[in-house]
Amino acid sequence: MAQRIPETLHKKLSERLHFYEDLGVGLFYKDRGAPHALAIAAPAAESFEAPISQAISSEELALPKSIGNPELPKATQPAPRVTYKPELLPVPAAASLFEAFGKVPDDTLLKIRTDLGECTRCKLHTTRNKIVFGDGNPKAELVFVGEGPGHDEDLQGLPFVGRAGKLLTQMIEAMGLERKDVYICNVVKCRPPENRAPEKDEVEQCSPFLLRQIDAIAPKVIVCLGSTAAQTVLETNRGISQFRGQWLEFRGRKLMATYHPAYLLRNPSAKSEVWRDLQKVMAVLGLEIKKSKSAEAGKSS
Ligand code: URA
Repeated sequence: MAQRIPETLHKKLSERLHFYEDLGVGLFYKDRGAPHALAIAAPAAESFEAPISQAISSEELALPKSIGNPELPKATQPAPRVTYKPELLPVPAAASLFEAFGKVPDDTLLKIRTDLGECTRCKLHTTRNKIVFGDGNPKAELVFVGEGPGHDEDLQGLPFVGRAGKLLTQMIEAMGLERKDVYICNVVKCRPPENRAPEKDEVEQCSPFLLRQIDAIAPKVIVCLGSTAAQTVLETNRGISQFRGQWLEFRGRKLMATYHPAYLLRNPSAKSEVWRDLQKVMAVLGLEIKKSKSAEAGKSS
C-alpha cells in the first residue's frame, strides 16, 4: 500500500518542485544511491550558456570535496571534472573605498556589531525601525550580499525575510544548504526610504562594516545579489549583465555577482541564469551537482 506523506512534508516538496519548475528544471528521477529520495536533475546541458562542465574542478583547485563545515551536507560524488579560467575585473587604479581599510586583527561579528552600535552615521537612521546587521553562520564558506533592507527586514531586523528573501531561501535550499549554513548581509544596514537605492554617502559610511563582516567570516565565496551590491563591492559602474556569472576576485576571495531575487520575481525567466551561476558556486564549494538524465545519456552514447 502506498505510504502517505505527512501534510507539511508534502507542502514543502510541492513548493520545492514548483521552484525547480520555475528554474526550468523539468526532469526528476529517483536516485537509489542518494541520501534523499528525490534527486534534482540539473537543467539539460544544452540549455546552458556555459555548461557546468566548463566550471571548476575541486581536484584541479585542490579544494576539499565538502564545503569544510561539519554541519553541511557532504558531497556524495566527486565534483565534475572541469577547467577553470579566472576572469578578473580591472583593479581600480585609485585607492579604493575598501583599500583604505586594512584588516582589523582578531575581528569578530560581535565586535563589529558592537562598533556599529545604534548607528547615526548617515541619514538612514532617521527613518529606520531596526538595524539589519546580518544573519547566519559566522564561519560560513558562502556569504550573500544584498543591497539593503526592505520593509519586512526593517521591521524584523533580519535580512531577506520578505518575498525576495523567500526566493533567496529557496535558492539556498536548491544548492543543498540551509540559511543557517550561509551568512546573509547587505551593503547598507538600514532601510532606504521607499526602497530607493542607497546613496553614495550612505554606502561610504556603511561599507567598512560590510568589509569587516566579510573579513571576519573569511568565506570561500561571496555572492553579490544585484547590481548595487556588485557595483559597490567591486567599485565599478559596469552593468551587472557584463560580469554576472563570472568568477571575480575581492580581497583574495572568489566573488560572483548574480541577479537579485527581487529582479527574479519580476523576471522569472532569468532564474535559469541564476541557477547556472549558483551551480558554479556549488562546484567550488564541493557541493553535489546532480546531472540530468539527458546529460548522462549524452555522455555514454
Ligand atoms: N533586498 C535586499 O537587498 N536585502 C534584503 O535584506 C532584503 C531585500
